[in-house]
Amino acid sequence: MHTTPLRSLAAIAAALLATAPLSAQKAENLALTPPMGWNSWNTFQTNIDENLVLGVAKAMKENGMLAAGYRYIVLDDGWMTKTRDAQGNLIPDPVKFPHGMKALADELHAMGFFFGLYNCAGSMTCASYPGSQGHEYQDGLLYAAIGIDYLKYDWCNTGTRNAQEAYTTMRDALHAAGGRPVVFSLCEWGHSEPWKWAQDTGHLWRTTGDITACYDCESRWSRGWKKIADFQATNADLIKAAGPGHWNDPDMLEVGVGDMTLAENRAHFSIWCMMAAPLIAGNDVRNMKSEILAILTNKEAIAIDQDALGKQGMRIHSDPVKEVWLRELSGGDWALCLLNVSDQSQFLSLKWADIWELPKHLAIRDVWTHADLGTTDTLPVLSRSVTAHDVMMVRLCAPKPAAK
Ligand code: GLA
Repeated sequence: MHTTPLRSLAAIAAALLATAPLSAQKAENLALTPPMGWNSWNTFQTNIDENLVLGVAKAMKENGMLAAGYRYIVLDDGWMTKTRDAQGNLIPDPVKFPHGMKALADELHAMGFFFGLYNCAGSMTCASYPGSQGHEYQDGLLYAAIGIDYLKYDWCNTGTRNAQEAYTTMRDALHAAGGRPVVFSLCEWGHSEPWKWAQDTGHLWRTTGDITACYDCESRWSRGWKKIADFQATNADLIKAAGPGHWNDPDMLEVGVGDMTLAENRAHFSIWCMMAAPLIAGNDVRNMKSEILAILTNKEAIAIDQDALGKQGMRIHSDPVKEVWLRELSGGDWALCLLNVSDQSQFLSLKWADIWELPKHLAIRDVWTHADLGTTDTLPVLSRSVTAHDVMMVRLCAPKPAAK
């Protein structure tokens, strides 16, 4: 029998790895639909600790968020000490995480969650903790030892670094560390238009600067999530870059954060679903109103976000009163969302015949009232009074072949 010495096998493996196309070095079959989970930043900033994370996980398990798909629990900035140790290793903050990060990861895994951490491609993170620049492979080994499943990688203090080079280095470091498959979340705020180059580098990339919650905002439309939605609404290059394994990230959800009305929370969530956005909740899920939980766990809206075809929707009409968003779904279905952008209730209406993309004979299902409204034949015009900043969102279902 011909045998190959181990040493040559290792050499062959190394050569294969070196010449493998980029996509083979990104953990495959991850994020085939937009990632869903919870991240500590939007509500807690760096005020995070073990009790908070475990409390959040317990709440998400009990309130149905885990079952609805929110699987990734991600600790954002502030999980480590302000300096590395003498060997250059990052140190999880022993006061915030007295049992260590691996124990926390193990506990979350045992509860059925995935676990994520944050760092930055610069010398320091945005909140001035040690960044990964020059330590990528060392940090990759630590993450593998902890057992992370997700890394959010930020862009502060990067000086003149080239984004593609910096993110590729960290991707390769994660891969080389040989830990659990890691969803790699690029957070360089769209500066280098990552939708043009990052499909083989990360599983999601931020397209803009930070989302802001609205506390007593004079105009909620000119700040916060609507500004980001406007940026993504019709950008064809950006929209076509999304697909299974690589998503545009308009930033984490502000649903249940700040003082948005219920309608605005619902509209924010709906537009994120239309955009095939990652659904990363950022509110205090241990203490939220039942109406907010109902938005975050609306199965029909989530099914649109998580549609297997992975095509991002876009805005096909915009005027001072309404916007119309359209998204093609798998199986010949479509999602359509009418958004009242005015500050009063409006009677919104839409004639199916005006949307040339749509096929005929579709059944209309209201995603928020969970009602069947008829078909595009029996109801040729969709119309309803919609309160200020609210949406009407429907799924248009293609006739399904009768079961034999
Ligand atoms: C940047 C990111 C945010 C958050 C903070 C943490 O601003 O864009 O999402 O991670 O850093 O410092």
